[in-house]
Amino acid sequence: MTRTVRPRVFVTRQLPGEALGRLGERVDLRVWEEELPPSRDRLMEEAAGAEGLVTLLTDRVDARLLALAPGLRAVSNVAVGYDNIDVAACTRQRVAVGNTPGALTETSADFAFALILGLARRVAEADAYVRAGKWRTWSPTLLLGTDVYGATLGIVGAGGIGAAVARRARGFGMRILYTSREPKPALEAEVGARWVDKATLLAQADILSLHVPLTPQTRHWVGREELREMKPGALLVNTSRGGVVDPEALVEALRGGRLGGAALDVTEPEPLPVDSPLMTLPNVLLAPHIASASHATRGRMASMAVDNLLAALEGRRPPHCVNPEVFA
Ligand code: DGY
Repeated sequence: MTRTVRPRVFVTRQLPGEALGRLGERVDLRVWEEELPPSRDRLMEEAAGAEGLVTLLTDRVDARLLALAPGLRAVSNVAVGYDNIDVAACTRQRVAVGNTPGALTETSADFAFALILGLARRVAEADAYVRAGKWRTWSPTLLLGTDVYGATLGIVGAGGIGAAVARRARGFGMRILYTSREPKPALEAEVGARWVDKATLLAQADILSLHVPLTPQTRHWVGREELREMKPGALLVNTSRGGVVDPEALVEALRGGRLGGAALDVTEPEPLPVDSPLMTLPNVLLAPHIASASHATRGRMASMAVDNLLAALEGRRPPHCVNPEVFA
């Protein structure tokens, strides 16, 4: 009887590019082919027999799943964010966790800027207006928006994506304020951004753009109080994680006219329920979590995730590992 020595790997969705082909040459590969993610039970069942998992942000990897997967050695997330994974529980079980930083920085910053421009200049509303046959004449008061040029952009989180948004903002002649754990002198010198505290950022930003990971500290970073402190009529853009904004407080601020509008690539929950009040508000621009969705970037993310997984399965520290102490 022949016995396979290839490690068993479960991938929770088809991925673009060549990465899965490469993975399939080295491991005993099972790929979830459906459009929707595997159910929780199915993921636990697959994890139970696997040494490696390639996961997406829709797949929860927690202590309960890990308890059923004693052979698991690596979880490789196809995302820079990893709030779907209980990293501490993985570390306790000596399961390496990989992610894909850098691969999506510029693509995500492009999309954040697309939302900034789209919201400020009402692009989706304009498109819907023309398609609905409502365009009867040029009008001096039709679909008036907010100037991006010369506006103050408030960036929350000056990591890779926040900094890439700041570079784009400089090209648009914006005044750039940011808040982060500590000042970033190199970014300040490069784009003329100024580090300020949270209260100043909220009070002065015409457009607030969020670029922080979701952690217990950033959950509902924008809540009722923050929305009250924001400049009246300001715009909010979220391409980070839905949980960074309190959804009820957001709807209240939009309905009350306190907030001028919101552009949301991410929501709490995801997908956004069809009966969410956000669906009916005209000053809300919505996207289905696609900031990193370019052909090249998604291919790069898949490839990095496979590199991370293969390294961990070979007992090496993955090139991008969020719990390197597993290899100490
Ligand atoms: C990430 O990578 O965390 C994004 O949200 C999806 O690309």
